[in-house]
Amino acid sequence: MAIQIAPSLLAADLANLAAAAAAVPGADWLHVDVMDNHFVPNLTLGLPVVESLARAAQQPLDCHLMIADPDRWAVGYVEAGAASVTFHIEAATAPVRLARELRTHGARAGLAVRPATDIEPYEDLLSELDMVLVMTVEPGFGGQSFLDVCLPKVARARAMLDRHGGDIWLQVDGGVSLDTIERCAEAGADVFVAGSAVFGADDPAAVVEALRGLATGMSDDTR
Ligand code: DX5
Ligand code: ZN
Repeated sequence: MAIQIAPSLLAADLANLAAAAAAVPGADWLHVDVMDNHFVPNLTLGLPVVESLARAAQQPLDCHLMIADPDRWAVGYVEAGAASVTFHIEAATAPVRLARELRTHGARAGLAVRPATDIEPYEDLLSELDMVLVMTVEPGFGGQSFLDVCLPKVARARAMLDRHGGDIWLQVDGGVSLDTIERCAEAGADVFVAGSAVFGADDPAAVVEALRGLATGMSDDTR
């Protein structure tokens, strides 16, 4: 799987989302953090903004739902134009049904785990999924320090996905930067979310390519 870079708009100027999208033309995805002030102690944006952004942006949208009751709301994000929708296993009531609904509506289905949530209990769900997201910070805020303690889980997730076969992507999100992306790639991640590292830089497009270069250099090409 080729390395993919997904800049997180949370670190962009939220009054100029279309301009932020245009500033990273080489990004594979735009990562959109939806927070509801219930699942996480922060509030960001929701369906109407995603709908407008899907019309305004060239890149496909990767919606990361940090919300309570994704069973009720997630499909709405597909209808709003998201090409990938990731829900948290800690919040979902019926993850298999939810993943199937996402796929039926035409999106990729992602399952996310917080830093303290194991991934192994969900091995049997992999056939229902297109992506696993291992959080490398506690979800809720951008600009936090990368948690190295999550790297063994990234490696275990990689081994699990390889055992399973197929083409399920392994995403990392939180504190991913020019300093930390190589560790993530070495552990086996292939989709990298970066917020402040990209939009906090003077040249966001150049950082996207620099991140891609570092991750590609560390990844195992035989995969
Ligand atoms: C955190 C969000 C991340 C965040 C990443 O809860 O899920 O996507 O925007 O931001 P950085 O890269 O600054 O840690
Ligand atoms: Zn995110």
